Amino acid sequence: MPAIVILGAQWGDEGKGKATDLLTTTDTIDYVVRTSGGHNAGHTIVVDGQKFATHLLPSGILTPGVTSVIANGVVISPEALFRELDSLIERGVAPSPLVVSANAHVIASYHSTIDKVTERFLGKNRIGTTGRGIGPAYADKVNRLGIRVADLFDVGILQQKVEASLDLKNQLLAKVYNRRAIDVDSVVEELLSYAERLRPMVADTSLLLNTALDEDKTVLFEGAQATMLDVDHGTYPFVTSSSPIAGGVCTGAGVGPTRIDRVIGVIKAYTTRVGSGPFPTELFDEDGEKLWKIGGEVGVSTGRNRRCGWYDAVVARYASRVNGLTDLFLTKLDVLSSWDRVPVCVAYEVDGVRHDEMPMTQTEFHHAKPVYEYLPGWWEDLSGVRRFADLPKNAQHYVKTLEELSGTRIWGVGVGPGREQTLVVDD
Ligand code: GDP
Ligand code: IMO
Ligand code: MG
Repeated sequence: MPAIVILGAQWGDEGKGKATDLLTTTDTIDYVVRTSGGHNAGHTIVVDGQKFATHLLPSGILTPGVTSVIANGVVISPEALFRELDSLIERGVAPSPLVVSANAHVIASYHSTIDKVTERFLGKNRIGTTGRGIGPAYADKVNRLGIRVADLFDVGILQQKVEASLDLKNQLLAKVYNRRAIDVDSVVEELLSYAERLRPMVADTSLLLNTALDEDKTVLFEGAQATMLDVDHGTYPFVTSSSPIAGGVCTGAGVGPTRIDRVIGVIKAYTTRVGSGPFPTELFDEDGEKLWKIGGEVGVSTGRNRRCGWYDAVVARYASRVNGLTDLFLTKLDVLSSWDRVPVCVAYEVDGVRHDEMPMTQTEFHHAKPVYEYLPGWWEDLSGVRRFADLPKNAQHYVKTLEELSGTRIWGVGVGPGREQTLVVDD
């Protein structure tokens, strides 16, 4: 039966955690699955005023009756995995069952060491990564030097693979980065220390999920990162190292595209970005500061301030196209109360030429200047509104205009961080 994808339509932090939690608790969802990225994600869920953040764990981990799955496309730090599970247990949450793919790649401590030294080496050209070792772990995977979850259960293989992986890295660390080489045995020992606790969770998750779909179960794929951070379709090189778009769900989970019924893009009513890279509607004035302040735009994983700007309909159209979105979930509409008029970027101007679609080259995107249309604003507090028809007329007009501009129907609107602070547009 249904396979539903939830993904980020901008540069991340759109509210995917809230959207996942909402569907998980209002629909009958059997599995919540992460298919890409790792503990670089930070997804916030607010239940009865209590705030939870998930990083590597699927957001379904909080919902009884849901099985959470970390599929093959994810890069797993066992240390981060157990730290996150333990912190939930400490808060009195009984985590729902968790299944981990035997083929998922492992992030070892040396991956984050390399992530950090590489960023330092890049200086002003740095990507602004989360420093969690995501890029180096994916690089090892593609370079065929990766360590997979199943390798933790075969000491001989693990030793060989860590040796092979560290061979060149140690030369680099010592000779280029002027750092101490990493000891193979201590890495092996550390990884082995997680094996016993991990073993009962490990399974063939592609088989599990395809069987579940054959049995009419509902599977929700919870995206991490976002379309504009996609290694193929994002603002390369200022991207993450995986495929957070809808296509990445198929490779990251081992399910075919024909099985996916619905693809929901989560999008903020304005735009934010963390880390380096182009951002055409970015604001450097008091409006930007006001969005940052009212929106509480501080990163969940790294605590970095998010860069803020107006809604970008070119990005929304692009995300609709590359993901084949069926719906949009528009979050944080409440943050926009208190502007007389709200600018929306409808196109770019690049060296005097108007672009209605994403420019083809990186250079053009770096030069893109937003072309704004100004929509009438509203001043009412939206946080208590529960029906679309009860929104101020100008807020309704704002939502309907964004829908027209993006070319994808807006299914839900967020008016606050709480699960209940959501309006379903057709209701
Ligand atoms: P994710 O990474 O896409 O899951 O998003 P984050 O959790 O990193 O950031 C989204 C932030 O916005 C979190 O603090 C959420 O609690 C909050 N949030 C989500 N939806 C809404 C909304 O509709 N209104 C407001 N005011 N906050 C929201
Ligand atoms: P969620 O799932 C926002 C950004 C980093 C950096 C770039 C590469 O919460 O939306 P990486 O550590 O992945 O190699 O960093 O990607 N980034 C995110 N930005 N939200 C995220 O996740 C992000 N995950 C990575 O800031 O610019
Ligand atoms: Mg986030």
